[in-house]
Amino acid sequence: MKENFLWGGASAANQYEGGWQENGRGIANTDVMTKGTKDTPRGVTYRLPDGTEHQTGGIMINDLPFDAEIKVLDGYDYPSHRAVDFYNHYKEDIALFAELGFKVYRMSISWTRIFPTGLEDEPNEAGLKFYDDIFDELLKYGIEPMVTLHHFEVPLELTNKWGAWADRRTIKCFMNYCEVVFKRFEKKVKYWITFNEINNIFFGFLSSGLRSSDIQATMQAAHHQFLASAMAVKLGHEINSDFQIGCMLAASRCTVYPQTCKPIDVYEAWQQSSRQYFFSDVQCRGYYPNYQIKYFERNGIKIDMHKDDKKILEQGTVDFISLSYYRSMINSSGDIEENSKDPLQLGEINPYLVATEWGISIDPIGFRITLNNLYDRYQLPLMVVENGIGAIDKVEDDGTIHDEYRIDFFRNHIKEMRAAIQIDGVNVMGYTSWAPIDIVSAGTGEMRKRYGFIYVDMDDNGNGSLKRIKKDSFYWYQKVVASNGEFL
Ligand code: BG6
Repeated sequence: MKENFLWGGASAANQYEGGWQENGRGIANTDVMTKGTKDTPRGVTYRLPDGTEHQTGGIMINDLPFDAEIKVLDGYDYPSHRAVDFYNHYKEDIALFAELGFKVYRMSISWTRIFPTGLEDEPNEAGLKFYDDIFDELLKYGIEPMVTLHHFEVPLELTNKWGAWADRRTIKCFMNYCEVVFKRFEKKVKYWITFNEINNIFFGFLSSGLRSSDIQATMQAAHHQFLASAMAVKLGHEINSDFQIGCMLAASRCTVYPQTCKPIDVYEAWQQSSRQYFFSDVQCRGYYPNYQIKYFERNGIKIDMHKDDKKILEQGTVDFISLSYYRSMINSSGDIEENSKDPLQLGEINPYLVATEWGISIDPIGFRITLNNLYDRYQLPLMVVENGIGAIDKVEDDGTIHDEYRIDFFRNHIKEMRAAIQIDGVNVMGYTSWAPIDIVSAGTGEMRKRYGFIYVDMDDNGNGSLKRIKKDSFYWYQKVVASNGEFL
């Protein structure tokens, strides 16, 4: 691996920080999502004008009346409120990241800590100060922060007011926020990511605070995010030409295998992956590709484009591509609306692969294929910002945690990444595991679906001491980083 390869770990504010109302933080879409399980979807709570209170049956909320006020209600359990309390444990946690040897730590800023409703003229100083402290703590150990501006989190006020990203006005609110954090943290943060897993906009409320999962509204919201991302790239470079600003793609969805080698299956698998590459095509190339324009025409989808939009997209292409990779997919129906009925859109399990308890097919070779596909397509540096396995861990009587399955997962994936780099010549800047410490699951809101090298003593109901415990994988990853990927 290159000498300056960026080894580290990654997390997201709403799954990690807690402190949901500390120091003037406002309420985000993620704060009204209840806990689910692998079989029961998370819900969103709301009140109707007649005063009755309800919870949706999932995170796609297309059945919600527009006069419903989405809000935090008594008697529901919202995992983001406490998460695992990074808010009060950040010094201890960052010291553990330093012990792991991290060169980089990918995290997100919670927009509502800076602009509580998204609509204020002035930012919340206490929120800015919180991130100043975190960046200082990281830099103290020589850990470079890599910051996601939008990781599934949007001020709830914008959702209630106008459906958040469905409305063009959200771009302006986002740009105010970007300008403030770019200027404030200019000397502390060099690496930025605009939208986490932008192609997961189909998660609707969960990823983007949308009030509708209708395909027309979703694609219009994606257009607004493309514009916001491009404007953020341009603005960031104007503020500091050293900034490196990337997009972020849920790349698991791009690696779609055909059901069989029948040409029609291969064609359909290609169609399905094109629906995903569309997102990185716009962000890396700066324009809508013909195949997607034609797809929109065939499906009656009309994007409301303003006069300057094309220019904005052209001028805001990204410096690098960051990606998450958890699994590969098998071609399903290829139909977005059909797929969106499956809330997490996991698709079928590949019979040739082993799946995790949460139905994720483990596919290290697919990782090598994914890296090659992305690099061939754009020739831009790749940054792997999420890769990991959610599993149930057992604390032994002596307090140790033997997570060999996690070590196997990482070993096999890092091996394939190394092959992509050393054998295939793919340019990878770095690798951050998801997540170095146990945090709340985005999909289910559970704690038992653990990803960390560091165990956090808390259960699904929020009981536990929050004590941090090193798992076996902690010592293993520490050696991987120290040997720059030689030891696996
Ligand atoms: C990615 C998200 O989709 O997957 C993360 O960017 C998320 O926020 C991760 O946590 C793993 O998914 P889950 O549902 O197991 O937390």
